[in-house]
Amino acid sequence: MGSNSHESPRTHDSVQELAKELKLNVPRHYIQEHREPTFVSNNSSSPLPSIPVIDMNDFNNILQSNKDPFINLRAACQEWGIFQLVNHGVDKLLIKKMKEEVLKFFNMPLEDKLRYKLVAGDYQGYGQTILHTQDQKIDWADRFYMITNPVHRRKSNLLPEFPPVLRDTMEKYLCELQKLAMYLFGLTGQAVEIDKQEMIDVFEDGMQSVRMTYYPPCPEPDLVIGLTPHSDAAGITILLQVTEVEGLEVKKDGVWIPVNFLPDAFVVNVGDILEIMSNGAYNSIEHRATVNATKERISLAMFFNPKLEADVGPAKSLVANTGAPPLYKTQVMEQYLKDFFSRKLNGKTFLERMKIRYGEATQT
Ligand code: OGA
Ligand code: NI
Repeated sequence: MGSNSHESPRTHDSVQELAKELKLNVPRHYIQEHREPTFVSNNSSSPLPSIPVIDMNDFNNILQSNKDPFINLRAACQEWGIFQLVNHGVDKLLIKKMKEEVLKFFNMPLEDKLRYKLVAGDYQGYGQTILHTQDQKIDWADRFYMITNPVHRRKSNLLPEFPPVLRDTMEKYLCELQKLAMYLFGLTGQAVEIDKQEMIDVFEDGMQSVRMTYYPPCPEPDLVIGLTPHSDAAGITILLQVTEVEGLEVKKDGVWIPVNFLPDAFVVNVGDILEIMSNGAYNSIEHRATVNATKERISLAMFFNPKLEADVGPAKSLVANTGAPPLYKTQVMEQYLKDFFSRKLNGKTFLERMKIRYGEATQT
């Protein structure tokens, strides 16, 4: 756990403040010696591939159509694990307001943001990368992470204490996005023979959390990373880019590819839990964020998870409908979460830990 001893590599309470003062060299705790490069195409006839686009209007007449309505969605979740969602139906004015309020939040004076400061040993609140060791690298970003559902799990000093307009806007936004997420869970489930009812039972009133991230400009953007490569420990993540600045990258076929956001689209990605529920049909994509030399970037990610008492494992209806052997263990969500945040993973990723390897000695 991070400590505030004099050995702490942090000289500021926020990267945003550090970036304001920085003229020359980036402090060494932010420098990533082993950062993998972003892929650049040196052949103009084969431009960079871009993530698939899914149009929600395509699902309006699902019952009338006799074609497989899930072809594109299934391919997007299998081959990529990420897509842009257009015509998603979430009120444009609400999204505009949400963006304005997140921007205002990060523009508040530091002492106002520090009211929500992440304290050592916790993972909810405003702060920089959580440090597990003193020599760990720090991402070039300030973040605010919190659990928003179930409501009784909300920390009383976070969302309930937000400036009222931000709080009310976020409440509306969370509610709209939960509906959208439920719709997407239904579709992504059906596409791989998971019964819609099973998805509803698992995800309705599920564990929901939010991360707002502020990536300040950096004089040496290629030396740092805004967000370390990871996959999300979620069912799905719905990402809203708050400012126009790009920075999200995904790893596809071994190379890092930038994501160009379409106006008004959400970026949706498959997380570890949906990969597990789909019994490996879907890909929980590895992603990271880079930063810009002159412009700030802000994003708002929402994570949708099973309810805490639900089992996380290959969907029972999928196993029954397809006869496929389960490739992952099953664990109750509450325990899954505890293990995830306790980081006792023995160097393994969470997905690796959940995988069953037939033929090898396994304990479930
Ligand atoms: C995350 C995430 C991407 C971004 O918060 O897990 O991947 O663009 N964010 O900020
Ligand atoms: Ni992520």
